[in-house]
Amino acid sequence: MAIMVTPSGQACGASVTGVNLSAPLSDTEIQEIRSTWLTHHVLSFPEQKMSDDDLERFTTYFGGFGHDPFFDPIEGRKNIAAIRRQADEKSPLFAENWHSDWSFQASPPAGTCLRSIIIPPSGGDTLFSNQHLALEKMPPALREKLENKIAVHSAQLAYAPDGAYGAKDEGRSMDIRPDESARKTQLHPIIRPHPETGQLGLFSCMGYIIGIEDLPQSDALPLLTELYAWQGREEFIYRHQWQADMLVMWDNRSVLHCATGGYEGYDRLLHRTTIAAH
Ligand SMILES: [Fe+2]
Repeated sequence: MAIMVTPSGQACGASVTGVNLSAPLSDTEIQEIRSTWLTHHVLSFPEQKMSDDDLERFTTYFGGFGHDPFFDPIEGRKNIAAIRRQADEKSPLFAENWHSDWSFQASPPAGTCLRSIIIPPSGGDTLFSNQHLALEKMPPALREKLENKIAVHSAQLAYAPDGAYGAKDEGRSMDIRPDESARKTQLHPIIRPHPETGQLGLFSCMGYIIGIEDLPQSDALPLLTELYAWQGREEFIYRHQWQADMLVMWDNRSVLHCATGGYEGYDRLLHRTTIAAH
């Protein structure tokens, strides 16, 4: 059965049908999905009744498991984390700022897979921003300021003990484990070729990027703020609306993503894996 691809009509994203992810895939199907993923950056597979075994098998087709720090995995699994929010939870929404997953690592994950289990009747969309497009459309004056700049990445603002998900973060149902290791830094170019396609794009954004190499913070922070505002412009966005039993895989090398709220009073649960860089 050939897979069918329906582009979102937005800046990136496509829906894929005609494939059953609860069974092993053929080499042809895997190749088709990979090339469709590289074209559209975000793929959603609706109406997939998948188990955690199915999620793990699907992930390994695309490069093995990434290393997930600062989260405890779900019971009995090393590589699956729960993205969870309870109906009465009052803590700030998780991942409400633009980011590329674990961009502070030396080899950040190529992609992320998210399988929906409990989805509220409305709200909770995930936004994706196409960073090839953001670079392509960037005003020359801003691009000039970013050419050849190397970003300093770190998880410290989020996952250090005094970070957003640190000691002051109370009442959260997710198994987040802040750690001193979050203060480590890692360098990556701001403008870089996609490791698989070679297409130039912007990688990650302020949040995990905490500075720019060889620039004082008084120059770096305004530039990162200007860049962040550009990266999240409406024209680069795909708004993903969830249903239960949906798998979404995205490319952390070409898109940013962020969570949205609007589902107070409802539980929400998804299982997540990361696809290692290769
Ligand atoms: Fe994320």
